[in-house]
Amino acid sequence: MFLVCIMSIYFNVFLFGMKKLKVHDLDFEIYLEDRLIKERVVDLAVEIHQSLKGQVPHFVAILNGSFVFASDLLRAFPGDCEISFVKLSSYDGLESSGKVNKLIGLKEVLSENPIIVLEDIVDTGKTLSKIDDIFKQKGRACEIATLFYKPEVYQGNRHINFVGFEIPNNFIVGYGLDYNGLGRNLNHVYQLAKA
Ligand code: IMP
Ligand code: MG
Repeated sequence: MFLVCIMSIYFNVFLFGMKKLKVHDLDFEIYLEDRLIKERVVDLAVEIHQSLKGQVPHFVAILNGSFVFASDLLRAFPGDCEISFVKLSSYDGLESSGKVNKLIGLKEVLSENPIIVLEDIVDTGKTLSKIDDIFKQKGRACEIATLFYKPEVYQGNRHINFVGFEIPNNFIVGYGLDYNGLGRNLNHVYQLAKA
């Protein structure tokens, strides 16, 4: 039994290298290995630090997807920094304008430190534009750092200050990103397998 177990792990990890897997009903194949992602995140941390010229940033990580990215980026950041983990939520406002967006967990009074929003992925850019509006309403500018960016489908006009990887319009999971709640714990990033 023990031998069968060991052989099966060997078969999956070494022969297939976990290069293909199923999440819910969909087949995914490996797209970016964790080593490459982590190297890029370290570069990004240094890039951000250099651009700040000694100022202490307040990172605002957007949950859920950005928690892995934020955790690696923070530990690679070569200087002082602050962080808040926030969640975007929308609720019915009292006025006829309809939905109101709010960042749950954001301190009402933010320090004067430069704000850098950490996103896992910018796709159409709708989420980003809601976040940007919230900061504008507070009279604060923010910069955006996203690990993944899909330029083919981006509809926003806001400049994205720091981009980890520009990727084609494929659905990806892993390294914090999910497909219907699963896949966030995968170390590598996987894309939908081509049929
Ligand atoms: P938006 O279209 O830029 O507003 O992106 C909305 C949200 O959709 C992102 O914050 C992600 O949570 C999710 N999303 C977009 N593309 C992907 C993907 O390829 N994989 C997993 N989640 C995605
Ligand atoms: Mg997200």
